[in-house]
Amino acid sequence: MTIHDYLQEWAAEVEKTLDEVLPATGRQPASIHEAMRYSCMGGGKRLRAVMALAACRAVGGAERDALGYGAALEMLHAYSLIHDDLPAMDDDDYRRGKLANHKVYGEAMAVLAGDALLTHAMEQLAALPEFYPVTLITAYRLMNEVTRACGTQGLIGGQVMDLENTGLPADAATLEAIHRRKTGALFEVSLKGGAMIGGGKNNELAALTRYAENFGLAFQITDDLLDVVGNQEALGKETGADARKNKATYPGVHGLERSRQMAADCLDACQASLSFLSGETWPLQQLAASILERDH
Ligand code: IPE
Ligand code: IPE
Ligand code: MG
Ligand code: MG
Ligand code: MG
Repeated sequence: MTIHDYLQEWAAEVEKTLDEVLPATGRQPASIHEAMRYSCMGGGKRLRAVMALAACRAVGGAERDALGYGAALEMLHAYSLIHDDLPAMDDDDYRRGKLANHKVYGEAMAVLAGDALLTHAMEQLAALPEFYPVTLITAYRLMNEVTRACGTQGLIGGQVMDLENTGLPADAATLEAIHRRKTGALFEVSLKGGAMIGGGKNNELAALTRYAENFGLAFQITDDLLDVVGNQEALGKETGADARKNKATYPGVHGLERSRQMAADCLDACQASLSFLSGETWPLQQLAASILERDH
């Protein structure tokens, strides 16, 4: 099986799970449920979810056991994207090849749809022991890890630093800190959480956390690169937007070639962490080998 097939197969399972756990469009108040589904369904690579499943496998667990967790991660990710695109933040009109949430439902509903996805994700985490082989103590630990990763020391902190450094001459250390928080933190908890569900030992959780730290940074560096050299159609979002807004980015601070090399170095470090794992690691190995060449 190729990594392309693996991603496609498990992304479809994640999509199915999301469809099951998101409130039905017809349920009242219908507008919010429609707005939630608009940004959560039918798009996105599902990378955070699939990597959680792959991490579960990498410690000897079964992918399927982490599906509910993966769906919760994708809700959190979708929430962060809806808010990231708002006029008060990045002010972007397109996401995943269609209009951004606020362009369809208005800003007030987009704020609420993001809030609702965040809240719904937490509800799903609390419910994991009902539907998956996840103990209460593991669910509690997952909630603890996820709320930290999404909070002011993680994703939100990174978004704050991103906004506060927009238009300023960024230094390399600040830029790295922004990327590790706004994007890296969710990848870290995705892999670590998947491994917790798979019953990973402490040294395996530490190895996957190292993998994810490096992967997350490389992933945001390539996101910055694609904003400069990517194809708008393939990306499904506007290119050149970072320069137009004067965002602190890797190409802006380090140039294209050096940025590419820095991402490649991170991805080499990913491969090195995989030797500590007891289960099947080829999907994580292949992902780290291919992510620099992605076009979306
Ligand atoms: C986009 O993430 C936002 C970043 C953190 C760079 P993805 O590129 O994973 O977006 P989707 O989910 O595939 O649309
Ligand atoms: C996204 O960073 C980070 C989060 C959404 C948390 P970007 O602002 O670079 O993501 P895109 O380019 O809009 O997808
Ligand atoms: Mg942003
Ligand atoms: Mg953005
Ligand atoms: Mg970007």
